[in-house]
Amino acid sequence: MIGDGKDGEIYKVADDKVVKYFFKEETHQRELEAMQIGQTSSIMPRLYEFGDNYIVMEFVKGISLARHMKRQGQIDEDMTKKILFVLDEFKRLGFTRWDTEVRHMLMNEEGEFKVIDHKRAFTSDSPVPTKLFKGMKKFGLTGEFLEHVKNLNPELHYAWKKLK
Ligand SMILES: Nc1ncnc2c1ncn2[C@@H]1O[C@H](COP(=O)(O)OP(=O)(O)O)[C@@H](O)[C@H]1O
Ligand SMILES: [Mg+2]
Repeated sequence: MIGDGKDGEIYKVADDKVVKYFFKEETHQRELEAMQIGQTSSIMPRLYEFGDNYIVMEFVKGISLARHMKRQGQIDEDMTKKILFVLDEFKRLGFTRWDTEVRHMLMNEEGEFKVIDHKRAFTSDSPVPTKLFKGMKKFGLTGEFLEHVKNLNPELHYAWKKLK
């Protein structure tokens, strides 16, 4: 077992694959739908197989954004661009939740973010990434991140400020 959360248990089943077992069918359906729709995006782990209460997906080898912040103690402009790309992809895919948690953003060995745990993609409605901000705040890095956003995408920065 490599992970257990509130909604399931994750086991490594091959070098490059994990299986996620769900406690509830409803959660399974919700996450499966988001993952299927997300297959056109590089931010979504590959979906290999699914059945009654499980999903077999790509194992993302790497560290989470949470761990990255803890190690580096900073978010630079390049990292900000990568985070904004993830949020853009949520929009492009039609998700209504334009947010995720810092522990659910995993950076692989190629330096790309893959996001896991999509059960709330269509059931939450978050135009502003408040969960992400909260995760950054823990490391005192929200201000730094928002400064980069302001430089890279002033319209987005303004929209967040207005909607918050
Ligand atoms: N595809 C994956 N690749 C690598 N680790 C994963 C993967 N999916 C889940 N994990 C690990 O398992 C943990 C729990 O998974 P998650 O999908 O968040 O479960 P839950 O829905 O119960 O919250 C994650 O925090 C992560 O450490
Ligand atoms: Mg989770």
